[in-house]
Amino acid sequence: MATRAEVEKFLERLREDLERHQIEIPTLPDVSVQALFITQDESSSIVDLVNLISRDTALASRLVRHANSPAYRGLTRCATIRSAVTRLGMERARQTIIALSMKEVFQSGNEMIRARMEELWNHSLEVAIISYLLARRHPHLDPDTALLAGLVHDIGMIPILRRAEKTPEIYEDPRALQAAADAAHVPIGRAMLKNWNFEPEIIRAVAEHENLKREPEDGEPVNYSDILQAANIESHNATRHRLASIDRNAVAAIRRLAAKPGTTQLNWEDDAIGLEHVNQMIE
Ligand SMILES: [Fe+2]
Ligand SMILES: [Fe+2]
Repeated sequence: MATRAEVEKFLERLREDLERHQIEIPTLPDVSVQALFITQDESSSIVDLVNLISRDTALASRLVRHANSPAYRGLTRCATIRSAVTRLGMERARQTIIALSMKEVFQSGNEMIRARMEELWNHSLEVAIISYLLARRHPHLDPDTALLAGLVHDIGMIPILRRAEKTPEIYEDPRALQAAADAAHVPIGRAMLKNWNFEPEIIRAVAEHENLKREPEDGEPVNYSDILQAANIESHNATRHRLASIDRNAVAAIRRLAAKPGTTQLNWEDDAIGLEHVNQMIE
């Protein structure tokens, strides 16, 4: 187990490096970088995105399947990449590409951190699914944006794990790792998403996902921060995580998203179409 001094030293270096922008940030898969570039470049067109997708057959077939989902209520079947991208629109197609290739970021060649990365990916996937389903109940929100926010909400843990792997006394001590996560996974995640040019609403939701004391203003519509907080709490339900025993009534996001006023039940599993679609998409 790490001593208090060792944990402090690890945290101090982490904070210093964060301030100096010296945290090593993983790169996004190339297809995601290209998709971001194409959709943000005014001289690009749908053809550029279609060409990019067609270079990756696995991605292409998943994207076409996604566009044909009953969740989009299309009347005709999209048979080509082009018709799939047209139905989804450039923005949503980009988000889908990023979501479908995000798993790569959680992979590690190092055996020591592989299991933890897998655990992190599974948790992120769960939060993404719940976020997607909660967002589907609110027509002003985009479920695909919520899904992507869920996938990246704890992404700041990756640089922490990579660093801790070089410091065995921290790595092998769950409490020390938790302290590092509490201190830094949110600001690191935020910096990563900024660096990757993610949309501001996702960055904002990720930056706020641990701030459970947040009190939205009266009449402020449900947003992605509510969705992420509630989905994260829900995903730790019935585990040993500290969020499993919090007072759900005290969390504004839970109250705002509860299936019925005055309760804290989210009932995100009620949506059969959404559940089938999201499972199919991420399988
Ligand atoms: Fe978190
Ligand atoms: Fe989380």
